[in-house]
Amino acid sequence: MIDLHSHLLPGIDDGAESLDAALDLARFAVDNGIRKMVLTPHIHHGRWDNNQTIIDRAFEQLQEGLIAQQIELTIERAAEVRIAPEIMVMVKSNQLPFIGEWESFQVLLLELPHSHIPPGTDKFVQWLLKHKIKPMIAHPERNKEIMRDFNHLTPLVQLGCLFQVTAASVAGQFGEVAQQISHQMLRQGDVTIIATDAHNLKARPPDLDAGYRAACEIIGEEAAHQLVFEVPEKLTRQKFQQAA
Ligand SMILES: [Fe+2]
Repeated sequence: MIDLHSHLLPGIDDGAESLDAALDLARFAVDNGIRKMVLTPHIHHGRWDNNQTIIDRAFEQLQEGLIAQQIELTIERAAEVRIAPEIMVMVKSNQLPFIGEWESFQVLLLELPHSHIPPGTDKFVQWLLKHKIKPMIAHPERNKEIMRDFNHLTPLVQLGCLFQVTAASVAGQFGEVAQQISHQMLRQGDVTIIATDAHNLKARPPDLDAGYRAACEIIGEEAAHQLVFEVPEKLTRQKFQQAA
């Protein structure tokens, strides 16, 4: 399986606190059946002021650790970017990390605030699309506004956003509402990928298999497999092969 949303890079956000913690997460991921992870630390202006240089440094540290410990996990780097006007500056200066490519669009893992969908999000999405950037909304099933009323997802679907649903939500570990929403999205065909959003072993491990198995019950094995393998593979193939 391929996991496109995770916080393993050590010491740069609220994910792995150290290289050892990151390596423990990587071992868990491999045992779980994950063979490739895109590491997506937060870029959240004023809170997690990460940039390419910081991400690259942490990435190299983890890559060296994986080799030294002989952990067979392929890693790539990107980011989970909190919606903010600064993104427009990053686009102009070519500083925005993407998780992949999708039908001639670059794909941005875009995080909304947990409490609501900010007014103007539709305009912002349109601006991104105009610049050939397709937002993939991170964990919409855990957004309070969508949890209150599922219809609030519809404008984002109509605009052409992609959606990453969290494996633990599908499996029921983020509560009943997040589970119901993720299941409804699966049934409607609104889920682009399932990913772990792994942060730590204790509460948020990289357990993609649990989400995959729960999704199998709802949409069947073949469709569920698409969301943890074929689609993430397609998304990352072009981008990271070009970079290699
Ligand atoms: Fe995340």
